[in-house]
Amino acid sequence: MKAHIITYGCQMNEYDTHVVASELVSLGVQLVDTVEDADFVLVNTCAVRGKPVEKVKSLLGKLRKEKARRGILIGMMGCLAQLEEGQAMARKFEVDILIGPGAISEIGKALDAHDKFWDLSFRDDVNQLVAPPPKGALSAHVAIIRGCNHRCTYCVVPTTRGGVEVSRHPDLILDEVEKLKAAGVVEVTLLGQNVNSYGRDNPSYPTFAELLRLVGGVGIPRVRFLTSHPVNFTEDIVRAIAETPTITHYIHLPVQSGSDRVLRRMAREYRREDYLERIRMIRDYLPEAVLSTDIIVGFPGETEEDFAETLSLYDEVGFDHAFMFIYSARPGTPAAKHFEDMPREVKVARLQQLIEKQKAWSLEKNRRWVGREVEVLIRGEAKESGFAEGHDRGNHPVLVPGEQAKRPGLYRVRITEASPHLLFGEVTGKLYVPEPIEAASA
Ligand code: 5AD
Ligand code: SF4
Repeated sequence: MKAHIITYGCQMNEYDTHVVASELVSLGVQLVDTVEDADFVLVNTCAVRGKPVEKVKSLLGKLRKEKARRGILIGMMGCLAQLEEGQAMARKFEVDILIGPGAISEIGKALDAHDKFWDLSFRDDVNQLVAPPPKGALSAHVAIIRGCNHRCTYCVVPTTRGGVEVSRHPDLILDEVEKLKAAGVVEVTLLGQNVNSYGRDNPSYPTFAELLRLVGGVGIPRVRFLTSHPVNFTEDIVRAIAETPTITHYIHLPVQSGSDRVLRRMAREYRREDYLERIRMIRDYLPEAVLSTDIIVGFPGETEEDFAETLSLYDEVGFDHAFMFIYSARPGTPAAKHFEDMPREVKVARLQQLIEKQKAWSLEKNRRWVGREVEVLIRGEAKESGFAEGHDRGNHPVLVPGEQAKRPGLYRVRITEASPHLLFGEVTGKLYVPEPIEAASA
C-alpha cells in the first residue's frame, strides 16, 4: 500500500504525523509525496480556528472525487476528527478511517479493518509510541505531555486532545532524545499543550524544571519547548533554563489579552499584572530572552478600552514577536455558547492595529542583534533567491548568502541588517555541518 499524509496545524500535529508515518512504515506501507501516487490519503486536521477547518473541508471534497475516480482510502486524524463538526464532514465526504488525537496508536488496526474504522477514545498507549529520528533532519520534536487541564473558554483543545494532562514516562522521553542525538539532530523541541505542567499528574515523574535539566544534559546543542501557560510558568523553570546552557532563551508565553475583564471571560486564570510579573521574573534571570506571545483580538464583548489594554500591554512588555489571531467562535466551546460574536470589520481593524504595533516592536527588537554574532541553524535554500535560511537560538528567521551556507547545519553568523520579520547576516564560521546523507553512507 502507498500512503500520503497531509498535515495542518501545530507542531503537535506534525509530531503526530511523524509518529503515524513511522507506524505505517513499520507495517510495510510505502510513503509517497503526492495524492496521485497514493492509495491511502490521510489528512491530519486542525480545529483551533475556522480557517484550518475550511481548508480541510475543501481538501476532503477533492479527495472524495479522487475516491469516486479510482477508489482510494481516505483517513482523517487530528483535532477536527474529535469534534462533531469533523465527524459530520467525514460522513459527507466518505472518509473511511477516522481516529482522534487520543487514538493514533490504532492506525494499524484501522488499516486492517475491512469496513469503516472510527476510534475517538483516549488511549493510554498513545504516550508509549516512540518516534524514530526523522531521516537526515537536524531538528526534531518530542511530545512530553498530552491534554490540557485548563479551560480557556474559546479553546477546543481540552475537547480534542483531552481535558486531563497525561505526562509521558521520562525514560521514554530521554530515550527518544538520546536517539535523536545519535542520529545527528542538533535541535529538539519538547511539545505539549502545556509543557509547564509536566509531571504534575504523576508524583514519580520529574517536574518540568527537572525534565529540562535532564534533557538539557543529553548533549543536543539546542533544547526548546512549546507551549507554556503563564499560571504554570514558575521560577524553578526559569532557573533551570538559566542554569542549563543547551536550553535556548526563547520563551513563548501566550497572553491572549491585556484586559483583566477579557482575561476573566476567557478563564485564563491570571490578571494582567500576574503576567507582567512573570515577564519581569524571566528578564531577571534571562536578560536577553527573546519573548513571543499569542494574542486573540475581538473576543466577544471586547470593548475599545479592553483592546487599548492589549496594545498597552504590548508596549509594556515589548515582545520580540507575536502570533495574532482574530477570535473564531468554535462549536461546543463555552465562549461560543454563551457570548455573542462581534462584527468582523471591528475584529479585522483591531488586528490591523495590533500588526502595526508588532511590526514596530519587532523591528526595534531585531535591531539589537545587528553587529552581533549568533548561532544559526541553516535549514536550506530560502525562497528569496540567492539566500539560505535558518533560525537562531532566539527563533528569529535569519537569511545568509546562499554560497556561504551550501549545506544545512549550525553556523556562526554576524548579523548585518534587521527588518521586522527577518535578520540578515554573513557566515563567520561553521559549528557543525554534517556530510549529506548520500555521501555519508557511500
Ligand atoms: N479563536 C482565535 N484564536 C484562538 N486560539 C485558540 N483558540 C482560538 C479561537 N477560538 C489561539 C490562541 C492560542 C493559539 C494556539 O491559538 O491564541 O494560544
Ligand atoms: Fe487551549 Fe492553551 Fe488554554 Fe489549554 S492552555 S485550553 S490549549 S489555550
